[in-house]
Amino acid sequence: MSEIRYDGRVAIITGAGGGLGRGYALYLAARGAKVVVNDLGGGADGAGSGTRAADAVVGEIRAAGGEAIANYDSVATAQGGAAIVQTALDAFGTVDIVINNAGILRDGSIVKMPSANFDILIDVHLKGAFYVTQPAFRVMKEKGYGRVVYTASGAGVFGNFGQANYAAAKMGLVGLSSVTAIEGAKYNIRSNVITPIARTRLTEDLMGAMGEAFAPEYIVPMVAYLVSEECAYSHEIFNVGGGRYARVFIASAPGWQVPDGGVPSVEQVRDNLDAIYSDAGFRIPGSAAEA
Ligand code: NAI
Repeated sequence: MSEIRYDGRVAIITGAGGGLGRGYALYLAARGAKVVVNDLGGGADGAGSGTRAADAVVGEIRAAGGEAIANYDSVATAQGGAAIVQTALDAFGTVDIVINNAGILRDGSIVKMPSANFDILIDVHLKGAFYVTQPAFRVMKEKGYGRVVYTASGAGVFGNFGQANYAAAKMGLVGLSSVTAIEGAKYNIRSNVITPIARTRLTEDLMGAMGEAFAPEYIVPMVAYLVSEECAYSHEIFNVGGGRYARVFIASAPGWQVPDGGVPSVEQVRDNLDAIYSDAGFRIPGSAAEA
């Protein structure tokens, strides 16, 4: 089988100053991509900023003979997103790949969560991904090529105690990717989601000794495939971690159809719950219209 390479491709990777993003940046650059290493350089809770994280990764790439440029803008504003894409255009002339990866955590139960902690998670994860992808999508549409990855989370798709803000933002990204895939289809723009699980500064305290089995390196090849030219998938979700790679999907079951087109009573709904709740014969719709 031929080697997968990214020669001539320009990749924007947000939050690439550490953790998973750094892994993607080093891997793609080693295989020929020109990489914009974006990182705000703040703490795991989003406080602070700095240039060191992005600069260090750019340094590593250049030392290995690769091409990269640093960008320190926050993804969490429209101006920041535009500036990140502009960095790619100024330095490398185009953009082919966007990996939306920047992220922070501010956990707290619904009862205790300050609304500011809800807002900032939506700003960074959900709006941030839109702010970067929108200007990149315009370039991709023009050139008829693009690969986009959004980073969701099992906490978003399946739920996790204490992460209302994070889960809402992450599940929002699933919707954003679905529309990116649908609107991008005729321009050869493909969009997919990963739900990773890996030992990074966001998770090392939680994982403890178990973290040994969840090296971030396991995530990298799946994302590298999804942003490759030969990736045929779009509109998909993949769960990745600890050496396991698996499809996640949102499906719809046939359910119960009210007879004669009439509006059912609440008792009719109750009496048909077996059929309504059954997952037998589910399908995976490709759009809301299909569903
Ligand atoms: P990390 O903390 O090492 O990396 C995230 C990077 O994003 C940091 O370098 C940070 O400075 C940067 N960043 C934060 N806010 C930013 C902003 N406004 N603009 C630009 N950069 C910003 O953590 P990790 O684990 O590598 O996280 C990467 C992504 O994967 C995140 O979106 C995270 O939510 C997601 N994820 C990670 C999981 C894991 O098990 N590590 C599980 C599920 C999702």
